[in-house]
Amino acid sequence: MNILVSGGTGYIGSHTCVELISAGHDVIVFDNLCNSKVISLDRICQITGKRPKFYQADMRNIDSLRSIFQENRIDAVIHFAGLKAVGESVAKPWEYYDNNIVGSLNLVRVMKEYDVKKLVFSSSATVYGVPAIIPITEECPLGSTTNPYGETKKMLERIFSDIQKANPDWHVMLLRYFNPIGAHDSGLIGEEPNGIPNNLMPYIMQVAVGKLPYLRVFGNDYKTHDGTGVRDYIHVVDLAKGHVAVMKKFNDAPGVYVYNLGTGVGYSVLDIVHAFENANGIKIPYQIVERRPGDIDACYSDPSKAEKELGWKAMYDIEKMCKDSYSFAQKAL
Ligand code: NAD
Ligand code: UFG
Repeated sequence: MNILVSGGTGYIGSHTCVELISAGHDVIVFDNLCNSKVISLDRICQITGKRPKFYQADMRNIDSLRSIFQENRIDAVIHFAGLKAVGESVAKPWEYYDNNIVGSLNLVRVMKEYDVKKLVFSSSATVYGVPAIIPITEECPLGSTTNPYGETKKMLERIFSDIQKANPDWHVMLLRYFNPIGAHDSGLIGEEPNGIPNNLMPYIMQVAVGKLPYLRVFGNDYKTHDGTGVRDYIHVVDLAKGHVAVMKKFNDAPGVYVYNLGTGVGYSVLDIVHAFENANGIKIPYQIVERRPGDIDACYSDPSKAEKELGWKAMYDIEKMCKDSYSFAQKAL
């Protein structure tokens, strides 16, 4: 298939391009490079032997999207582009709603103009809020979000579902990611956040390479086995492969399909610290500090629907996730 990947130079997007190309798809990328670098494309080429066609375009500019659709035959769109920092979204709600909502509306409008009816959307486990069921199945009711970023994911799920209802020949795939970490085996692509990282693994990576002195563990009085927050960490390459698996679903009847992409296993913050230390033979100093507002005790998936319907299952364990994160950090940070 000819697949347009929005946000394709970013962390999950670049890994997905690699897997799509390796599976024989043709990939066109657009990104405004606000949180990634154009060198990702060279790296994708180094790994796969193919450089995706690239447009530096901002999805808030609808005409720049129109020219991409005008110049290419596109069968499906995988939509990663968006701003994703939870804390920043609280400080800059205007920017988040404008970028994520207005930009995405532009994208689906242009898809409609050019008769492209297959959409895969990067949603998030954040839509479950404080989950009503653990492990979380896709039937778990959506919860209330605590920040504008999370709200954009919930709104976009609703918007895309309504669009599908009004256009019953569309396929809309809502993929709810749990916590992607790790990097490609080659160490060529991975996550390089700007400034001081918000997320756990990027922070540990900075401590591991000596850029930050210690990890702050946000609270040890959660209702979990060791008091620290539990999450479902998934190797980014497994997550990327989930997108390839979803392509098969386009052969089924049109509709809205929702899948959790996680491993089904929950690890605490301290489990991750110890796994990282054991996998890489280094010490990660840490201090327990106050809880971070908005954090929940535990969040992990029941990924069985994706296995049953897509034939996809995460393969990599926590040791591999920690090893690959560290080898990327040693090369890139
Ligand atoms: P990322 O920041 O590495 O990638 C997003 C890409 O979108 C970046 O390259 C950025 O430059 C681009 N972009 C942002 N606004 C744009 C615009 N207006 N026009 C064009 N390009 C734009 O993030 P990621 O971790 O790869 O996440 C990809 C998607 O997955 C995002 O939608 C994110 O919200 C979602 N997601 C991520 C996580 C996670 O923990 N990483 C979890 C759940 C969902
Ligand atoms: N944590 C620390 N110290 C840090 C960073 C994080 O102790 O420096 C803890 C958090 O308190 C939490 C766990 O590590 O218990 C994971 O935190 P992350 O920030 O890495 O991830 P979150 O689960 O909070 O959120 C992430 C993304 C969201 C996405 C969600 C999906 O940031 O955008 O995963 O499950 F919605």
